[in-house]
Amino acid sequence: MSLSEIRRAVASKKSDEIVALTSGPLRPLFSNEALVKVSAISLNRGELRRAERASDGALQIGWDFSGTVDKTAADGSGPVTGTRVVGFSTRMEGWAEYVAVPTSYLAPISDGVSDAQAATLPVAGLTALHSVDAATALLGRKALVTGASGGVGAFALQLAALAGADVCGQIRRAEQRHFIENLGDFPVLVTSGGVEFVSDGGYRLIVDGVSGPILANAIPALAPDGICVCYGVTDTPEIPVDIGQFMRIGLAQILGFHLYAKSESSPPSDNLPRLLSLVASGRLNCAIEREASWSEIDRFASDLIERKFLGKAVLHVD
Ligand SMILES: NC(=O)c1ccc[n+]([C@@H]2O[C@H](COP(=O)([O-])OP(=O)(O)OC[C@H]3O[C@@H](n4cnc5c(N)ncnc54)[C@H](OP(=O)(O)O)[C@@H]3O)[C@@H](O)[C@H]2O)c1
Repeated sequence: MSLSEIRRAVASKKSDEIVALTSGPLRPLFSNEALVKVSAISLNRGELRRAERASDGALQIGWDFSGTVDKTAADGSGPVTGTRVVGFSTRMEGWAEYVAVPTSYLAPISDGVSDAQAATLPVAGLTALHSVDAATALLGRKALVTGASGGVGAFALQLAALAGADVCGQIRRAEQRHFIENLGDFPVLVTSGGVEFVSDGGYRLIVDGVSGPILANAIPALAPDGICVCYGVTDTPEIPVDIGQFMRIGLAQILGFHLYAKSESSPPSDNLPRLLSLVASGRLNCAIEREASWSEIDRFASDLIERKFLGKAVLHVD
């Protein structure tokens, strides 16, 4: 792939579509960037909401991708040409036939892991991994994952269990139970308000991407030395919190999380291999619920925003 060649990519749309395929030349590469020929991409709520909000109709989007290194980084870092890799494009250039990405945001894909599985891991898997890493001494302790039917939630549920917690998943509808059962033998709380959390409670770890009443009811159920990781606001961000709960004992914590900030100190090239190894050994299910060609991206984008499927969607760049 040379710089003057035109390659296809995904961008936001001004009309009633959310995203569409577009085309344009590749930007020049920085010396720490490898060029990757993309084979699969995975959708996240966050980037699609950004595309919806884009007013100029030309915002290139896409965080998660997998594929094969087409050109090694000029500084010699990272995987060499021909290596199968998974990566996270913080510039949102990942949904394209070719993407340039710093090698610290890439990892070689382990044998036994498909490109489709790998593509689900960067944003959702790393967010779940760092959220679970935020807690200590989870063995034999209780944990709660809200929004367990979502992309991040499905990974967080499994990772908290792998870290030794007795983890419970919150879902909104009883018919979503089968999705959780496919991930493992996890207790679920079917609730859209969360009033059940306090009686279930004493959670050492809460992983929340919902906010609203769910989070407002989860916080009082934290153990006195528990940590609540807030990585997303799918419902309203404004909730009442009894600060006395935190100052009286002084050990409970609410932690705001953003993957961009975390990735600067703890790069994806260090953490994606942890997830890949769990997938390769069959201990982590990527919860792929939809798989198709990227030519259908707008339909999958609106289905994800409208919550018409659970878990992850993977599209093949064909
Ligand atoms: N801070 C970061 O670095 C970071 C990283 C990743 C994601 N995020 C954010 O985290 C959030 C979740 O991301 P995701 O990719 O997992 O999204 P997702 O796959 O769309 O999942 C959304 C989850 O939230 C639940 N939900 C949606 N609306 C709800 C409501 N009103 N009340 C209760 N539950 C509700 C859904 O339940 P149903 O299945 O019942 O609809 C589902 O479990 C998004 O806001 C995203 O932008 C932030």
